Amino acid sequence: MSSNIESVLVENRVFPPPEAVVKAARISGMAGYEALCREAEQDFEGFWARLARENVVWNKPFSRVLDESNAPFYKWFDDGELNASANCLDKHMGTPTENKAAIVFEADDGKVTTVTFKELLARVSQFANALKAQGIKKGDRVIVYMPMTIEGVIAMQACARIGATHSVVFGGFSAKALNERIIDAGAVAVITANFQMRGGKELPLKSIVDEGIAMGGCECIKSVLVFQRTATPCNMVAGRDKTFDEVLQGQSTTCAPEPVGAEHPLFILYTSGSTGKPKGVQHATGGYLLWANLTMQWTFDVKPSDVFWCTADIGWITGHTYVAYGPLAAGVTQVVFEGIPTYPNAGRFWQMIEKHKVTIFYTAPTAIRSLIKAADSDEKVHPKNWDLSSLRILGSVGEPINPEAWMWYHRHVGGERCPIVDTFWQTETGGHMITPLPGATPLVPGSCTLPLPGIMAAIVDEAGHDVPNGAGGILVVKRPWPSMIRTIWNDPERFKKSYFPEELKGLYLAGDGAVRSADRGYFRITGRIDDVLNVSGHRMGTMEIESALVAKTDLVAEAAVVGRPDDLTGEAICAFVVLKRPRPTGEEAKQIANELRNWVAKEIGPIAKPKDIRFGDNLPKTRSGKIMRRLLRSIAKGEAITQDTSTLENPAILEQLAQTN
Ligand code: WT7
Repeated sequence: MSSNIESVLVENRVFPPPEAVVKAARISGMAGYEALCREAEQDFEGFWARLARENVVWNKPFSRVLDESNAPFYKWFDDGELNASANCLDKHMGTPTENKAAIVFEADDGKVTTVTFKELLARVSQFANALKAQGIKKGDRVIVYMPMTIEGVIAMQACARIGATHSVVFGGFSAKALNERIIDAGAVAVITANFQMRGGKELPLKSIVDEGIAMGGCECIKSVLVFQRTATPCNMVAGRDKTFDEVLQGQSTTCAPEPVGAEHPLFILYTSGSTGKPKGVQHATGGYLLWANLTMQWTFDVKPSDVFWCTADIGWITGHTYVAYGPLAAGVTQVVFEGIPTYPNAGRFWQMIEKHKVTIFYTAPTAIRSLIKAADSDEKVHPKNWDLSSLRILGSVGEPINPEAWMWYHRHVGGERCPIVDTFWQTETGGHMITPLPGATPLVPGSCTLPLPGIMAAIVDEAGHDVPNGAGGILVVKRPWPSMIRTIWNDPERFKKSYFPEELKGLYLAGDGAVRSADRGYFRITGRIDDVLNVSGHRMGTMEIESALVAKTDLVAEAAVVGRPDDLTGEAICAFVVLKRPRPTGEEAKQIANELRNWVAKEIGPIAKPKDIRFGDNLPKTRSGKIMRRLLRSIAKGEAITQDTSTLENPAILEQLAQTN
């Protein structure tokens, strides 16, 4: 994009919060922020107890705040009881919020449907009754494989209402990915739709469910509930599959929410780790709900009059916390969008902001970068063509935002008037961790600034010792926090090893590198330090993609996957492949590369398709047979190899891999 010189200049600029925003904000000015941080430092448990009493409706109040007796398996508000759905819906009944729009849904084709909080409560309750009628009960796991729709949110809320643990699988994942998650979670049901609509196309969901279940090991599934998103019929298995209409028939629209213990698993969400198998990140109910509600108020400073729009899919953690739970708990109107930012053209987001008078807009740097590119090549989709004056706060999530994209977002979307909250967090953290506060924090483009009050984030070296500001290191969190991951479903040992490794003596390891600025102590995330890639804000394990490639046993002998920087997607997936046949070149190489891409799409999902595939007679290995990934990273970037290659068994391979493209 633009030159390095500009980005250096831009990075040093500071944008103080506008006076009017400071005045009206819940956390007002740095003094307000610091007061909360002090409260947390002086009385950690008292701080969280106060917030949990003020921001969560408890059926039974808690008496214990934090139980560290079995660390790192922390428990929060353990003897308290609540229901997550009641905290999102029932809580608002009898208040002015009940008749306010909860969800303004815009379909792929532009059709708008609105439900009020009261109507949503009725629909969630009715669907909850339908789930119960299927024999689904508290503690059961339910897979949700749904398009971005009101019904998707209803499915999640209905599970929460009866105490079932949902596990949402993003609609872009493959049958195989679905199969693995069904088995690992031991799910009793799948909630899905016949099709989903994206970019004017009707894409299958139900047939992928059928295929996933047919792959075997899914005897645990007793029912498949199908939302008919489109008129096109889909295959229905007698006795197992039922349409929403069928199961809702005759069900009451009231359903008492099932109180659960604060530590009851609200959901499992699978995410990629450094090793092959995705991890089922397990979240609890009480602490998660607290943080979903509180960060809406702190980070977005929501007011009753706001129209909030988070563009994330419910298949990701952002769509859990800031679509399915947070906005509802906060009682704010939100926009839910089914489609994609570039259909019917790349002005869709701006058009929707104008149409729905969105006040808080939360999206990913990848989306911004692709819309910049589109606006650069076609004036007609530039945000200046729409009235975006309703906006008051902008947010960014999922990957570092480069200063150029930040400046464009600030200028052309925010009209230089809206604070940008660059929110750093993870599937595992449940909600925001390090982020500016719109009415307090002076902004520096490209920096997620400071941890939220009570979040004891720090940067340490490999032995867990603090490093000074200005020096890079490993991002950790020194104390537990309420919305943290509780365990990896079915694998507590992996939980301990991944997030609380012995060397770090009890510190939570985020998996990211970071550096704090010398002047302000602001955090800047420098990227993952493990074998996890961030492609368009989606997390992908390199090993996961490697396993998928070598699973093509008729063709692939060996594969190594690394990331390389990409202007648009942040990182791009680059695969080095050794075939079981002579190394292909030219047209043949192109054709096999495409075959492999489609294979990976089938194994994992289209988001995991490698952008580059290079074929070699071999891979660079040490004499002990270890693949030297750092060399592959340099080759992927197109860099000259400057590293020491003396331990390499086969140095000639480097040149061959560098040539192929
Ligand atoms: C990883 C977590 C956060 C919800 C969506 C992604 C990267 C996330 C930022 C940010 C720099 C960021 C990190 C993190 N990341 N937000 N604002 N600045 N990096 O959740 O799939 O669990 O991925 O995304 O590398 O570890 P996720």
